Amino acid sequence: MAQQNADQVADWTGESGERWVAYQARLDAMMAVFGHAAIEAAAPAEGERVLDVGCGAGASSLDLAARVGARGHVLGVDISEPLIGRARALAPQDTPVLFQVADASSAELPEGTFDILFSRFGVMFFGDPTGAFSHMRRALKPGGRVAFVCWRGMAENDWVRLPIAAIKGIIPPTAPPDPETPGPFSFGDRGRVARILTAAGFNDIAIAPFDASIAFGEGATRDAAIDDAVEMTFEVGPLARALADQPDDIRARASAAVRAAFAGRPGDRSVMIDGATWIVTAHNPIS
Ligand SMILES: C[S@@+](CC[C@H](N)C(=O)[O-])C[C@H]1O[C@@H](n2cnc3c(N)ncnc32)[C@H](O)[C@@H]1O
Repeated sequence: MAQQNADQVADWTGESGERWVAYQARLDAMMAVFGHAAIEAAAPAEGERVLDVGCGAGASSLDLAARVGARGHVLGVDISEPLIGRARALAPQDTPVLFQVADASSAELPEGTFDILFSRFGVMFFGDPTGAFSHMRRALKPGGRVAFVCWRGMAENDWVRLPIAAIKGIIPPTAPPDPETPGPFSFGDRGRVARILTAAGFNDIAIAPFDASIAFGEGATRDAAIDDAVEMTFEVGPLARALADQPDDIRARASAAVRAAFAGRPGDRSVMIDGATWIVTAHNPIS
């Protein structure tokens, strides 16, 4: 296990992993539109072999398996034991998919084997992204392709921008994360993504914006949907940790402010929020 990913392993095996398992169905529903866009960009064909990096509970691996069929194969790898446990539990029998607990940046992967290196929001957490992509590239066949979806910057993603603006002045400000620190928004800078892939040996790099409105909150009534969006922010969003550390009265004020911010978003029995991503594709050179 690469030492520089030790914090991520601890987090995704512990707190974040457990929270993602608890909210797996909701998160899968939200991420689906982005994963499908990345799968279209990957264009998996029947019989192809796919490596799904940071596969989490495996929804994208199962979608990919349906595309490559029984003559193909999908290997889903993730550092999180609880998430791989959920992926195995959700995979129907006879699906051409295998799930492994592994750090994709350093695990022994079969060389020159895969047609596609795929990820749905699972490649932004490497301590050494260039090293990780160089390592994973060696598992691709010559001419093989990479396709993944990652978030653009926080400022473009209302599901995090709105709550951050709402809690300003209520909880003490934290320094904005270094844009190169591993985390959900570390691939927000398109130039950085291109530099990483180029340095890792890929060519033919394309990075295209893909935006979608997602139901960040859902419920039987509009009020219940807004409560649900607040809960997602407090439980699984990037602000969850900072909010968890606050005393109850501050959390209550923050909750009311976030609720008011979400109430301004459209939706009937939902709170629709804009998500902004990059769909990234590249090739492993033929020689
Ligand atoms: C934002 S979640 C996305 C999970 C899943 N792809 C999905 O869309 O539901 C990021 C995932 O990347 C995994 N991850 C982080 N670093 C990793 C690494 N070095 N190797 C493999 N998986 C990693 C985490 O455990 C987590 O499951």
